[in-house]
Amino acid sequence: MTHSRRDVLRGGLGGLALAATAGTGALTRAQGAGGRPPFGAAVNQWILPKEEPYRAAIARHCRLVVSESGMKWDQLRPAPDRWDFGPADELVEFARQHNLGMRGHTLLWYDSLPDWARAISSAAQADREIKLTIDRVVERYGAQVGSWDVVNEPIEDLPQRGMRESVWYRALGPGYVDLAFRAARGAAPKAELVLNEYGLETADEGSRVKREGFRRLVRDLMDRGSPVDAIGLQAHLSGDRPIDREGLQALLREFVEMGLKVTVTELDVNDKMMPGPPELIDALVAARAYEFLDTVFAVVRPTAVLTWGITDRHTWMPRWNARPDKLRNRCLPLDENYVAKPFMSVLRHFCDVG
Ligand code: XIL
Repeated sequence: MTHSRRDVLRGGLGGLALAATAGTGALTRAQGAGGRPPFGAAVNQWILPKEEPYRAAIARHCRLVVSESGMKWDQLRPAPDRWDFGPADELVEFARQHNLGMRGHTLLWYDSLPDWARAISSAAQADREIKLTIDRVVERYGAQVGSWDVVNEPIEDLPQRGMRESVWYRALGPGYVDLAFRAARGAAPKAELVLNEYGLETADEGSRVKREGFRRLVRDLMDRGSPVDAIGLQAHLSGDRPIDREGLQALLREFVEMGLKVTVTELDVNDKMMPGPPELIDALVAARAYEFLDTVFAVVRPTAVLTWGITDRHTWMPRWNARPDKLRNRCLPLDENYVAKPFMSVLRHFCDVG
C-alpha cells in the first residue's frame, strides 16, 4: 500500500487530531504509528472485570477502545434522576492504566433507551434530556474520549426510507441531529464528532437507498453548518453481501469533498451463510474485511478502525446470526482461544495494531 504525502498528512493529522483533542490520557497510543490509523475494539463491560485473557488481548492489540454498551442511555440513566456510570468508569480506568485512547458510544440513539426516555413526547423534554445527557457524559469522560458517536443510526431501513422514525425525530423533527451536534460541540470543543451509521457498504438495494438517505442528511447538516467532523461507518459486513466498491467510494469522495473525515467504528463479518470448515470461514471473513478496507483506504484514510469486539468468544453475533451448522460464529480477528486469524493480518496490513 503506497502512501502519497497528502494521504500520510491526512492520516497523520487525523490520528493526531484524535489524540490531541482529548486530555493527555489519550495522547498515548491512539495516534497510530507509521501513518496508519490506530486499531481498536469494542469492549464488553461485563466481561472486562471477569476475564484476564480478555483484558490481556485488548491491552496487547488495541490502541483505543469503545464501550459496547456501557455508555448507552439504558445503562447510564436507568431513571430520569438516577445515573449509573459504573461500567463506563471501569473501562475508562482500564484505558488509562494501559494508555489506550477512547471513543464514546453513543450520546444519542433510538435504541438501548430506558422506558422513561422511550415515553418522551414533548419537544421541551426531549431537548432538555438530550442536552443534560450530553453535558453530563462529556463532562465526565471528555478528558479521555477523543471521538464521540454523537448520533447513531439516523436513517431507516427498507421498506422505510429517509430519517428513522425515532422518539427523538417524533419529538423534535429532523432538527434533533443538529441539536445534538451543537450540544456536543459546546461540551467537547475539540473532540471528533461523528455521525455513525450501518448498512452503507454493500451492493444490495437496501444499502443503495440507505446511502442516498444518509448522503442527503449529511449534505443538509453541512449546509446548516452543523459541527459534524466525521462519518462513522459501522461496517457490520456479511459473507453473502459483496462490497459496492463504486457506490461506497462515490459516497466517501463526496464526504471528503465536504471536508469530513471517516472512521470505521464497528467492523465485524457476519459468517452465518459462509460454508465451513473453520479455516475456510476464516479465509472468507478475512477476504471480506480486506475488500472493504481496501475500498475505503483507496479514497480516504480512516481516523481509526475498530472492530465490534475482539474475540469470537465474546461477540453479539450469535444473538441474531447464529450459524445453522451450530459452529461458533467466527466474525472477529481473534478466535475463541484468543488466537489471531487471517482477519488480524488484514487489520495489520492497514492499521497500527499492537
Ligand atoms: C449492540 C451490542 O453489541 C449488544 O450487546 C446490545 O445488546 C445491542 O447493541 N450498532 C451499534 C451498537 O451502534 O451499539 C450495537 O451494539 C450493534 C449495532
